Amino acid sequence: MNAAIKPKLVLTGFMASGKSAVGRALAARLERRFIDTDHEIVARAGKPIGRIFAEDGEAAFRALEREVVAALAAAPDPAVIATGGGALVDNANYQVLSRAATIICLTARPEVIARRVSVSTVARPKLTEGNLPLEQRIAQLMEQRRDAYARAEFTVDTSDLSVSAAAERVLRILEGKE
Ligand code: S3P
Repeated sequence: MNAAIKPKLVLTGFMASGKSAVGRALAARLERRFIDTDHEIVARAGKPIGRIFAEDGEAAFRALEREVVAALAAAPDPAVIATGGGALVDNANYQVLSRAATIICLTARPEVIARRVSVSTVARPKLTEGNLPLEQRIAQLMEQRRDAYARAEFTVDTSDLSVSAAAERVLRILEGKE
């Protein structure tokens, strides 16, 4: 039924665009394993993302992220992989992921992202950098990452979609029906 869909799918895109929730729904629909790169990084580091950034710096986080992405891209099993919002900005990550998988970028309007993250910016240190109002910082970082995200094969705006509707949209795109 889903013969046209590559064994590995990568969901990338800005923080709170729905990567993990939609990725999980998609993995269930396709009966594939779901993997979240942030969870793998936290497991390797033995501490949460906020502490990795605060104690070891962003460069250390990005180095771990690169290791995790390379390992997942090289693993043979079919999977749905959700990356952290900054992963695709790194060219090495883009190179290995684009060879191994179909890359789908999820996006959402800045005000929708702001609403979704307003309870948990502690776990997202990139949003508190520069002490800007949340929505302004989101718009700024999105703009900086525009070209990186544009390298994905497909983009789905989840602003007005439920998790299951977004997963359905991604499936239809992968099946060539949209
Ligand atoms: C980051 C996004 C986060 C996490 C880290 C850095 C980013 O993942 O990887 O805080 O640079 O956009 P989510 O997109 O899952 O929140």
